[in-house]
Amino acid sequence: TARLRRAAAADLPFVLATEGLPHNALRISQWPRERHEACLADPDYAYWLVLDEAGTPRGYAILRGLTDRSGNIALQRISVAAPGQGTGRAFLAALIDHAFMETPCHRFWLDVFTDNPVARALYRSMGMTEEGVMRESVVRADGKRASLAVMSILRPEWQTGRAGR
Ligand SMILES: CC(C)(COP(=O)(O)OP(=O)(O)OC[C@H]1O[C@@H](n2cnc3c(N)ncnc32)[C@H](O)[C@@H]1OP(=O)(O)O)[C@@H](O)C(=O)NCCC(=O)NCCS
Repeated sequence: TARLRRAAAADLPFVLATEGLPHNALRISQWPRERHEACLADPDYAYWLVLDEAGTPRGYAILRGLTDRSGNIALQRISVAAPGQGTGRAFLAALIDHAFMETPCHRFWLDVFTDNPVARALYRSMGMTEEGVMRESVVRADGKRASLAVMSILRPEWQTGRAGR
């Protein structure tokens, strides 16, 4: 079980510092502070932090689509400061539970670079289904083209998964 809290403008230094870490370079987008400030103020977005026992942020995630009338909520971004310690799995599980328990979300979805096997395996293990691949759809910071897999979990699938837990 992860401890989460909504992020505020005062948390942007942590968000920006985490986003800029080398392990994120080709895996997530790097936004300027102004873009984060605008999204933080936008009711369609929610910024979340995962905290350690002392209440210190260890990762952040951005949800998008909170005002979508069809109930599609996207995991716009997720990143932890120190990967491979179990933080991301607990964080994502809590975010998915939050989306289905606290909002009218019907489809929780994301896109992930096809050359990110750790994240793809994590999403599959959470019950997400791959819907398809947007081939060579992004030019990344290194100037090379990359493909994005679209993955989702629907409310009935989440309910079935919870019943099995
Ligand atoms: C993806 C990310 C959020 C996952 O968080 P994390 O804290 O590293 O993940 P966890 O430690 O909870 O591990 C999740 C699973 O991935 C596996 N894993 C983690 N790091 C790994 C690595 N370097 N190699 C192989 N497997 C790895 C773990 O074994 C675990 O699987 P298991 O529970 O079956 O043992 C994190 O790695 C990250 O910030 N990556 C960079 C940004 C990114 O890729 N974001 C997603 C973009 S769509």
